[in-house]
Amino acid sequence: MKRVTLLDVYQHPIAQKYITRSGLAHAISTAQYAFDYSQEFDVNPDLAVKAAFLHDIGHYTWYKNGSWDYSLYKQNDIHAIKGAERAHKLLIRLGENPVFAKKIALAILLHTDSYLPDGNLQLEPLQEVVALADKADEEPGGKHHYKTISNSEAIFKLESLDKKVEGKLNLRIS
Ligand SMILES: [Fe+2]
Ligand SMILES: [Fe+2]
Repeated sequence: MKRVTLLDVYQHPIAQKYITRSGLAHAISTAQYAFDYSQEFDVNPDLAVKAAFLHDIGHYTWYKNGSWDYSLYKQNDIHAIKGAERAHKLLIRLGENPVFAKKIALAILLHTDSYLPDGNLQLEPLQEVVALADKADEEPGGKHHYKTISNSEAIFKLESLDKKVEGKLNLRIS
């Protein structure tokens, strides 16, 4: 089965429509951090980068009178739930291995606990990698969602990350 690349994901209309809502630059930086953490945690880098790239795809735009309403967002947000489903649909359409698509969707579902009742989640290593990568790119006041990146720079970064992942996958047994 041919690997579904980050570039395949980025170029799909579902990603083009939704990934920019919470910032394409944040999605790419999170994927880069996830690659590094995947090596530290001995997690499949292919799953880590795709889950990280797609982790915020479920965002809705909480605008009120032209600007983002943070309290409305806090009150009503389910972006991790929505994102898990949206990413799963996109990956299956691209021909992703269904076992991988499920693991990626779960890592997206659990990348934040901000929408869950208080309690401690027991995260699996892949889920931990995605949550850590997201935090690593976080900036005060949610500024990480507003960083910008050009289309050509995005493609360049995703292609080089794809090459790094493929280099590691050739060395992995599973
Ligand atoms: Fe998020
Ligand atoms: Fe995020």
